[in-house]
Amino acid sequence: MEPETVHRRGILGCSAMVKKPNETMRIIITIFVGIIFGFFIGKSFPALPLLKLNISSALIHDFSIIGNKSTGGSTQSIDASSSSKNNRINSTENQNVNGSSKVYACVIIFGSHQIQKVQRRLPSGIVASESDFYLRRLWGKPSEDLTSKPKYLVTFTVGYDQMNNIDAAVKKFSENFTVLLFHYDGRASEWDEFEWSKRAIHVSAKKQTKWWYAKRFLHPDIVAPYDFVFIWDEDLGVEHFDAEEFIKLMRKHGLEISQPGLEPNRGLTWQMTKRRGDREVHKQTEEKPGWCSDPRLPPCAAFVEIMAPVFSREAWRCVWHMIQNDLVHGWGLDFALQKCVEPAHEKIGVVDAQWVVHQSVPSLGNQGQAENGKPPWQGVRERCRREWKMFQTRMADAEKSYYKAMGIDPSKFTAHH
Ligand SMILES: *[C@@H]1O[C@H](CO)[C@@H](O)[C@H](O)[C@H]1NC(C)=O
Ligand SMILES: *[C@@H]1O[C@H](CO)[C@@H](O)[C@H](O)[C@H]1NC(C)=O
Ligand SMILES: *[C@@H]1O[C@H](CO)[C@@H](O)[C@H](O)[C@H]1NC(C)=O
Ligand SMILES: *[C@@H]1O[C@H](CO)[C@@H](O)[C@H](O)[C@H]1NC(C)=O
Repeated sequence: MEPETVHRRGILGCSAMVKKPNETMRIIITIFVGIIFGFFIGKSFPALPLLKLNISSALIHDFSIIGNKSTGGSTQSIDASSSSKNNRINSTENQNVNGSSKVYACVIIFGSHQIQKVQRRLPSGIVASESDFYLRRLWGKPSEDLTSKPKYLVTFTVGYDQMNNIDAAVKKFSENFTVLLFHYDGRASEWDEFEWSKRAIHVSAKKQTKWWYAKRFLHPDIVAPYDFVFIWDEDLGVEHFDAEEFIKLMRKHGLEISQPGLEPNRGLTWQMTKRRGDREVHKQTEEKPGWCSDPRLPPCAAFVEIMAPVFSREAWRCVWHMIQNDLVHGWGLDFALQKCVEPAHEKIGVVDAQWVVHQSVPSLGNQGQAENGKPPWQGVRERCRREWKMFQTRMADAEKSYYKAMGIDPSKFTAHH
């Protein structure tokens, strides 16, 4: 049986296979062993560079727990895969495993964001653990359905009022892209006047935000075939943008998370995301005095905005897990993206040579609800701010518990956001 892979960062989880109380018990034991082992690592290798870096790098340390149960007993071995000495600890325990139990393997790799799990009740040959957005025919041989398998995905969260802008934008994405539209106004069928719309995927759910859709419809296992995922707003001017060229530059400069440079326009913009005329890509900038505690951290580096981000497959796998189901506006995500790639100040950057204009058309923000005499956009804005605070609190709490569980003193690390 083959394990299916879920990438996460520093979080233990094997819930999909929890079927029976005694299995639950075993997982708890596995996790416990992991905690002890984390402690062991922390104690034994205090000089490892990870302990000198920021919070996120401690989560990066790779090791795996392999729980291997066969009938009549259970063996867990822990493999410090990132340590060159190939440390390995086994713990064997005998549990009451009755004959009906099936073999499973649970591989947990901290930090390299992989949790391999599974081995449920199916033979591996039938397990289809990933999917895609490729459209198929209703007739003929399935093997002949697909004339192409686009390697990139672009999503726009749209209202019909922005159709001309989206039409212009979609044309900047070649046939190598699957186009997926999230409709927040329920007018999905009206787009068929555009030829490309007939090949696009349309998802309609009223008055939802980009991050609400992303969490629900862009699970990493669903978008697994795509090398890069663009998760864009609807109000971007794309006259000076070409998606294929953009991806070439991302690859050339080793970027895992990126956005096109923003043409400086009226209103507040972060220095980091402003387009620079003199280069292809930039990864660092200077902000107003006092804004950056560290030049390698947001908002001076390792930072893009949530308006037009582009993620590599691996980076998206991590970011998807960080998106909270109830915090729909995604505020604060931009500051936390750096937790998903390492080293963040080298793998997050802005592509200046392919740039866009942020047109700031009021759109979803106006779909709020007027309350207490306040205009709809104001209630939305207030919620955005509140969500940002909640997200920061949750992240800080999660990191605190993580360190506590690992037996590491959190005060050794400087907290960033
Ligand atoms: C589990 O144990 C079986 C038999 O002891 C062994 O063949 C198999 O390779 C083990 N699997 C893992 C993932 O360790
Ligand atoms: C780990 O398990 C293997 C196979 O069961 C055994 O040969 C080895 O000695 C064990 N290692 C330790 C450190 O217990
Ligand atoms: C296996 O164990 C569970 C719980 O201990 C028990 O309810 C079940 O009847 C057992 N199955 C067999 C086949 O012994
Ligand atoms: C689409 O991808 C193929 C294969 O990578 C490439 O040869 C082709 O140039 C791409 N199309 C465009 C319009 O760039």
